[in-house]
Order: sequence, then C-alpha cells, then structure tokens
Amino acid sequence: MSSAAPEIRVEAYAKLTLSLRVLATRPDGYHELEALTVSVTEPHDSVVVACRDDIPGVDLTVTGPDADVPRDESNLAVRAAHLLRPEGGVGIALHKRIPPGGGLGGASADAAAVMTGLQALGATDIGDDALLALGASIGSDVPFCLRGGAAWMRGRGERIDPVRVEPLVVLVATPPFGLSTPAVYRAWDDLGGPRSARAVRAPDSLAPLLEELVNDLEPAAERVEPRWRDYRERLEALVGRPALLAGSGSSCAVLFEDPAEAERARRAVDDALPGRAWASSLAAARS
Ligand code: C5P
Repeated sequence: MSSAAPEIRVEAYAKLTLSLRVLATRPDGYHELEALTVSVTEPHDSVVVACRDDIPGVDLTVTGPDADVPRDESNLAVRAAHLLRPEGGVGIALHKRIPPGGGLGGASADAAAVMTGLQALGATDIGDDALLALGASIGSDVPFCLRGGAAWMRGRGERIDPVRVEPLVVLVATPPFGLSTPAVYRAWDDLGGPRSARAVRAPDSLAPLLEELVNDLEPAAERVEPRWRDYRERLEALVGRPALLAGSGSSCAVLFEDPAEAERARRAVDDALPGRAWASSLAAARS
C-alpha cells in the first residue's frame, strides 16, 4: 500500500444470530427472516483501506489464518470498493480471521468495513441511507454489518431495527467444515419449511426481547452436513450448556454469564474439538 495514501483501519466484527426464525420463502427466492443479531468482538477481521489514485481498480491483499478467500469481484469487499469508488483506485489490506462458511457474516463485515472506511476518508459523499441501500445490494447482511451492535434483522435481512441489549458473554465455536448459505436455505425449502423444535431459554438479559432462542435453519443444516449435529452435541457435552446454530452455520453459539467461565469453555473446546473457538462479547454499534 502506498505510504502517501491516506488510509484508515476498521475492525470488521463477526455477525452472530442469537435467534433466527424463517417466516416464508419469497417470490424472489430469498427467505423472509426475523433474526435477533449481534456483532461480537471475536472473531473479527481487520481492514486497512486507502484511496489509491496511483492504481486503477482495487488492490486487495489478504493475510491471517483464513487468507484463502477470492481476490476478485466475488469478494464482497472488492465489490464494495468498486461500487463506492468506481473512478479511483482503492487499496485494501485484509487480515482475515472470521472463518468463511461459518455463518458469521465475515464477507459482509469486510464489505461494510471497506464502505465505512471509504466514507470516513471522504472518498464518497454518499449519505448514510444510500450507503445502507448500496450495502443491501451487495448482500443481505451488509446493512447490519454497517451499523453493528444489536438489532432485529427482518425482510431478507436488510431491514434493521436496532435494540439495546445488556453486555453478552458468548462462546463462538466453529467446526472444521463450513456450510454453504444457499445450500442450507434450499434444504429448508426441500424439508417443507420446518420450524426448529429445539429452543434454548433466553438469558435474563434478553428476556425483554424474546423468551426462547431458536434457529429454524438447524434441521436444514443437519440435512446438508450430517457432521454438524455430532459436533454440536459434543460441544454441548463439553461445556455443559446448550448450543445453537449461528446463522446458516456452521458455527455454534453458547451463551454464558461469566467471561472467565466462557474462557475456560474456550480452552476446553480448543483442547478437545477440531475447529476453532472464541470467548467473545458484544461489539458496540458504530454510531
Ligand atoms: O444476500 P446474500 O447474497 O448474502 O445471500 C446469499 C444466499 O443466501 C442467497 O443467494 C440465498 O440463497 C440465501 N438467502 C436466502 N434468504 C435470505 C438471505 C440469504 O435465501 N434472507
């Protein structure tokens, strides 16, 4: 990245659905959702974005444990940069830790971080509402990631109703296999649109918002990847608490009250299960 180019670093926090109801299949093939979603501090990607008038197009470099991601337009961060700065060049240095295919919205978080960075650098005069609309055209999760914090996601995910939640302690555990979002939604259709029968009592801190946490995509995730159920059951036995599918998977979320207990659970999962785990907490909304 050119040393002269003004640049900015933006953290791209994982998006974690705590509860997800699929209400219907829409005529456009997407699914109507109602999902209580939070951004969490771990895992997170880091994005350094710069306006680069010395290059055409977008120059993306990727480092980190999950660096094996596309460098072309199929990377949402690249698409976001192109859309926001069609005439000038953009440099993006991405440190990737959010596992792709983990249901944690990493690609959307990266795109949102690029947009936030370019806006902060004054590279675009687009307003906040137009930024949200542009984000929605990139992916259903981008509007949530632009703001972060805690919110109900509705529609196909692009309608955001921010909510206040008390600080959360959560273990995020990702098995060594990912799940394809379109494949999971297709399996939900093939199964006849099931409601998940597995509910977890919401902690007191979430009681004003909902009584039970569920994820209607669990039966579909199990259909697409039979190893997921085994992973979830081993995780629950190990930490002594119920785990729910995060988004369309493959990650699991386990809520805790005490950060030290979550950290102990993380170590136990690291020792005993394949894949990766993070003891995490709520990341604040951007503004
Ligand atoms: O919007 P995005 O491109 O992130 O969605 C990826 C895929 O996930 C869609 O092509 C669709 O198959 C599925 N999806 C869905 N309903 C949603 C969100 C995503 O069916 N509400």
